Amino acid sequence: MSKVIRNIKGTFDILPVNVSSDAAHEDTIWTWQYIEKNIRDILELSGFKEIRTPLLEPTELIARGIGQLTDIVSKEMYAFEREGTHYVLRPEVTAPVMRAYLQHHLAQQGGIQKLYYFGPCFRAERPQKGRYRQFHQFGCELIGTDSVYADVEVIATMMHVYSAFNLPNMKLLINSLGDETSRPRYKEALRSYFSKYESDLTETSKTRLEKNPLRILDTKVEKERVLLESAPKLIDYIDSDSKDQYVQLKGLLTEMGIEYVEDPFLVRGLDYYTKTAFELVSDDLGAQSALGGGGRYDLLSMEVGSKSPVPAVGFASGIERLLIALREAGTEIPEESPMDVFVVGLGEEAQKWSMLMAQKMREAKVKASYDLRGKSMKVQMKEAHRLRSQFVVIVGEDELTSKKAIVKNMETGDQQEVHFNDLVDYFTPSVAAP
Ligand code: HAM
Repeated sequence: MSKVIRNIKGTFDILPVNVSSDAAHEDTIWTWQYIEKNIRDILELSGFKEIRTPLLEPTELIARGIGQLTDIVSKEMYAFEREGTHYVLRPEVTAPVMRAYLQHHLAQQGGIQKLYYFGPCFRAERPQKGRYRQFHQFGCELIGTDSVYADVEVIATMMHVYSAFNLPNMKLLINSLGDETSRPRYKEALRSYFSKYESDLTETSKTRLEKNPLRILDTKVEKERVLLESAPKLIDYIDSDSKDQYVQLKGLLTEMGIEYVEDPFLVRGLDYYTKTAFELVSDDLGAQSALGGGGRYDLLSMEVGSKSPVPAVGFASGIERLLIALREAGTEIPEESPMDVFVVGLGEEAQKWSMLMAQKMREAKVKASYDLRGKSMKVQMKEAHRLRSQFVVIVGEDELTSKKAIVKNMETGDQQEVHFNDLVDYFTPSVAAP
């Protein structure tokens, strides 16, 4: 075979180094780990606990949970059948978390469940900046209460993450979708409104008009956006209970100092929502402007097989979009911690000695490496530079005889001799305690 096999379009590798040939994904694994650790710490500050669910789920869970008519289910699922079982690569994590909650009777633990997750999701979308076929989400699900304080808790937690990264130009959009009777009423109102302008609609919107008129609200076509200005607004079609909760939500957000913008056309692309819906958007992201989004989904449990509704609310965010926004904002990510020591061994005996010394240092929690290839001094020093090693320990035949190594501080250039017996101790104070 003459050509190297490449990754699938819309997916990408996350590498320990930045390779310029793949400029779209220039963030190294170090950046990912740094971001993930910071997010994890913030989510745990609010008492959320991690849950990990499989990447493979039964197709029925996703189709019923998210809704047959959504783009995700009707067009974007990576689904396949094997020996009579239908599988899907999860396109999101809320339905899987609800499945796990019901399957393992987490309600019996008492109280509410506050769960968070990180991990890949899969959607067969047309790839572009900020939109991939395998992307990574983090998110929170708060299950077991219909209190509006839970909505605020979830929104505040999401905002805490982004404010910790100091991102500018963000906007929190909120809306209420009402109860399960509200949306059908609203769909009818939209259908009759847009029917009057059918000849002005694009072919896509004409199809949506019939199948799911809510999707017309996402239009980017200028002519249709003008029509939206006088279109019916969801808030006028929702039940009074949802309306009261929405007013309460806005009041509490204000008390928390969380700024929001009401978006009467925010309906979200998943069918499981009732009442609160929200999205965090950024002007710095281009067409794929949503950093994250979520809402309340009190009836999803019923689609997953529960006999009674389990009230719940949550959000999920794309890590790639957060990384793009951080880059746009010019945010500095601290660099990967360098190597503490690189052991340069000259000759076969010294190489063996280096192997054993590196081992001793690692046992003492000193980050150490040595030359595996038996290269020259010059090449080994180059390797030490590449690893940004703070010190090198140089040992050749003479040093093996005198049992004293040359220790070079790579930053200052200072050199000194250190007896083999004192070497590990020499480096331990400079290393942080575990
Ligand atoms: P979603 O709006 O479909 O909601 O996705 C959440 C976030 O995932 C988006 O705001 C975006 O940042 C990211 N995202 C989605 N699709 C892609 C893609 N193709 N490429 C890159 N990033 C993407 C949900 O998934 C719900 N489960 C949120 C939720 C949690 N609702 C309640 N709890």
